Amino acid sequence: MNHRLSIDVFSLTPETAESALGLKNLPAFFRAVIKPHAGGLAAALGHYADNGASQVILVEDDGNADDLLKRLEGLASVVEPGRKLIVIGAVNDISIYRRIMAMGVADYLLSPASIDDLSASIERATHDPQGAAKGKVIGFYGLRGGVGSSTIAHNVAWLLATQAKLRTILVDLDLAFGTAALAFNEEPRQPLIDALTDPERLDQTLLQRFMIGEDDNLQILSTHGMLRSSMTLSQIAIEKLVDLARQTADVVVLDLPHYWATWVEDLMLLADETLLVATLDLANLRDARNLTELLRAKRGEGREPRLVINKADMAKRSRLTAQDFANTLSLKPLVQIPFDPTAFIEAVNDGKVICDKNAKHKAAIGLRQISEIVSERQQPSRRFKGWASLRKRPAAQPSKA
Ligand SMILES: Nc1ncnc2c1ncn2[C@@H]1O[C@H](COP(=O)(O)OP(=O)(O)O)[C@@H](O)[C@H]1O
Ligand SMILES: [Mg+2]
Repeated sequence: MNHRLSIDVFSLTPETAESALGLKNLPAFFRAVIKPHAGGLAAALGHYADNGASQVILVEDDGNADDLLKRLEGLASVVEPGRKLIVIGAVNDISIYRRIMAMGVADYLLSPASIDDLSASIERATHDPQGAAKGKVIGFYGLRGGVGSSTIAHNVAWLLATQAKLRTILVDLDLAFGTAALAFNEEPRQPLIDALTDPERLDQTLLQRFMIGEDDNLQILSTHGMLRSSMTLSQIAIEKLVDLARQTADVVVLDLPHYWATWVEDLMLLADETLLVATLDLANLRDARNLTELLRAKRGEGREPRLVINKADMAKRSRLTAQDFANTLSLKPLVQIPFDPTAFIEAVNDGKVICDKNAKHKAAIGLRQISEIVSERQQPSRRFKGWASLRKRPAAQPSKA
């Protein structure tokens, strides 16, 4: 989970105030906008009389049961509907707890609240069990242009769809120059960028119109390479697109462009699996180090990025080795895929991925291993769900993170 939430905290005790400040240091809250306020529940009443509310509101109160209930009623009359309210109170009484929860409060914690209390409570409050989102998201990012990241993404998507029989959507996010349609010898009806110009209009019906693909299990969103004069991209639209895709597919494979932008970084953080594709040279090693450091810090524990070495034996004598990468990054490459330009070019010319054209090729064996490993970790991921479910809520204050 990586909340893009706006959170107001009205604390009273110094302990709760400190816990609220500490939230920002948790990887799950890097992108959240957390605003601390003093004065507790009473101050929140005054604040929301004049200001719009954040998506999540935490209020601390030291009053007795009557005071607390009265103030909460007051708060309900000034806060717009759809907000998640978490109350931190001094009253430790089950019947009062029930009355508070009956008012539509998302959670009640005893004062003072620890950082773990706060983060677990926000997680519970924003987790939507009815959320339709379900598919696993797998992102591929090439550390340099041309390392073969798209080729690998196409092959893995094909394997997941045709061999593992998972409903797969391949999203080619190289919106201007992407080759997913070409790789599968398909003709896009409209370039994907056209679906992203107006996030308000984007829904399942619209998205379906952009999907191509002969195999029932493999749908592709791509471009035919026609350049648009303006390619301004809305981050909200991209997130909505991925969210919609994972609502209808078992797996969503993201072919990410070699490009550095907030939306690319966000998708690398939010994907259930993020695979970095490298070839064995110094520039790849430097960028792999920077990126693994960033992804480790921001994706949080148990969500290590994965590393794939491609074109492994391209320059046998002068190259670095996979072991050099493993040592520098403390990350063992999943697989090494051999360099075989003829086989890859022939596959492209045939409009087939190499795993389809020549399943026994050594590269195909490595690619199969990747598809087996990435489909292994259990889906659906709660981390991604927290984010997806938020997008379905009624208009809330946009997060500025
Ligand atoms: N293992 C490989 N051996 C030989 N050529 C490869 C290999 N993997 C990819 N290629 C070729 O490298 C070129 C760049 O691949 P592409 O997937 O577009 O890279 P990226 O998406 O990282 O920019 C393509 O022509 C592709 O066929
Ligand atoms: Mg590419």
